[in-house]
Amino acid sequence: MNTLAVVGSQWGDEGKGKIVDLLAADADVVVRFQGGNNAAHTLVVNGEKFILRLVPAGALHQSKTCVIGNGTVVDPIALLAEIDGLKRRGHLRDNSLLKLSNDAHMVMPYHRAIDRAREDLLGKSAIGTTGFGIGPAYEDKMARVGLRFDDLTDFNSFREKLERNIRDKNAYLKTILKAKPVAGAEIVEQMRAARGRLRRYLCDTSAFLQQAIAGGKRVLFEGAHGVMLDIDHGTYPFVTSSNCSASAVFSGAGIAPGSLDGVLGISKAYTTRVGSGPFPTEISGRLADAMREEGSEFGSATGRPRRIGWFDGVLTRHAIRLNGMWGIALTKLDVLTGIDPVKICVGYQLRGKRIDQLPPSRQMLGKVRPVYESLPGWQERIDHARSLQDLPVNARRYLERLQEFCGVRLAMVGVGASREATIILEHPFLALKSTPARRLSGSRSGKVIGPPTA
Ligand code: GDP
Ligand code: IMO
Ligand code: MG
Repeated sequence: MNTLAVVGSQWGDEGKGKIVDLLAADADVVVRFQGGNNAAHTLVVNGEKFILRLVPAGALHQSKTCVIGNGTVVDPIALLAEIDGLKRRGHLRDNSLLKLSNDAHMVMPYHRAIDRAREDLLGKSAIGTTGFGIGPAYEDKMARVGLRFDDLTDFNSFREKLERNIRDKNAYLKTILKAKPVAGAEIVEQMRAARGRLRRYLCDTSAFLQQAIAGGKRVLFEGAHGVMLDIDHGTYPFVTSSNCSASAVFSGAGIAPGSLDGVLGISKAYTTRVGSGPFPTEISGRLADAMREEGSEFGSATGRPRRIGWFDGVLTRHAIRLNGMWGIALTKLDVLTGIDPVKICVGYQLRGKRIDQLPPSRQMLGKVRPVYESLPGWQERIDHARSLQDLPVNARRYLERLQEFCGVRLAMVGVGASREATIILEHPFLALKSTPARRLSGSRSGKVIGPPTA
């Protein structure tokens, strides 16, 4: 396949960044199509750690084009800081390799102020947002009062719109949210200074991508967050404010339905969640603490400890169906080393009845009790494994059961945070409608476990 979307199958932080970075070696273009800097994608390359929030995870490969599509919301100051950080570390040297959509909406300081003030007011019922203003920025987009990068073309008219928004938002902040207003003049001056640097990246990214696809380029779409945080299909209202399922690729990148060859879901070998909301397989106590430590499960965007749970097969099947996933990359199998037994959720109990799917009302997800299957664990370290044969037999059994239950091809298995700590069973760019037989960087091969059943 030439065009592939990578999306999270759980509540985010599944390891999308690592897998996108790995696949980017064989792609030409990497595209973010939704979300903003509420995303935090960690890459570990040659022992160095990078956290990318807005810049696509192709940026560590010197010649790949990175696109921030129209469906994203972008804090211009945060973007420039991220670009500067990458440039200081020797990346993103060629400005023509980063493209930002004219039509992407800007996240402004008043969005952050509103986000935080609302969360404060909600107290115990807070969503647990990242506080980066993502929800309020998408609200403005839908209310047709948002500022787009295209507006920077004429700074006078941009300033008028910005000042009008600042007036409205400050009134809302002061009178309704009882919060401090934002400093209007400062924001205008900050944007005046940022404008010169931002404009070099701006273009019609939709036209660029359509042309790239028509020209047979390999394009990788990097999802942010996860299916269960999707505004329509997640655990509303404990979700983010964008569609994070694969369907958002078309609207968020401006490409035609039908031009996507496949979808790769990313799942952890267990489950995590940051922020509030239902989480059927959540566990607590010493085991959860140990998994959190072993898996470094602290939010890369906010440093918050992530909630921990067992792998939820019911939820993953939902994600697979919703996205038509070609396969799954299962990450962080190494974190389960030393845990015995390991558990997979294979159903729920709801009001005394067994169910095999998500309850029809997502609110009921807070009421279900997981039904587990226990499998024997393994004690051996597995971070060196590069093929299934390198794994202990019980780790292989865990993978086989998980694949069988989910009914989907297991394409990759992550056994460590670094780029190379990955077992590649089937490379998506060599699968399906892969037209020109292009060589992949490095030679990786492995055995596909079992036939794909979904
Ligand atoms: P993303 O938002 O989906 O890109 O995920 P994050 O980067 O927020 O969180 C995933 C964390 O797990 C990061 O710290 C990664 O470096 C790390 N990681 C990814 N894959 C693996 C893996 O297979 N094993 C281990 N131990 N860590 C991994
Ligand atoms: P990546 O791309 C994990 C969660 C927040 C909160 C909810 C709403 O790194 O996987 P928001 O600031 O988006 O309005 O917060 O969504 N959330 C994430 N959790 N990983 C993410 O992104 C997330 N992006 C948003 O914690 O519960
Ligand atoms: Mg993350």
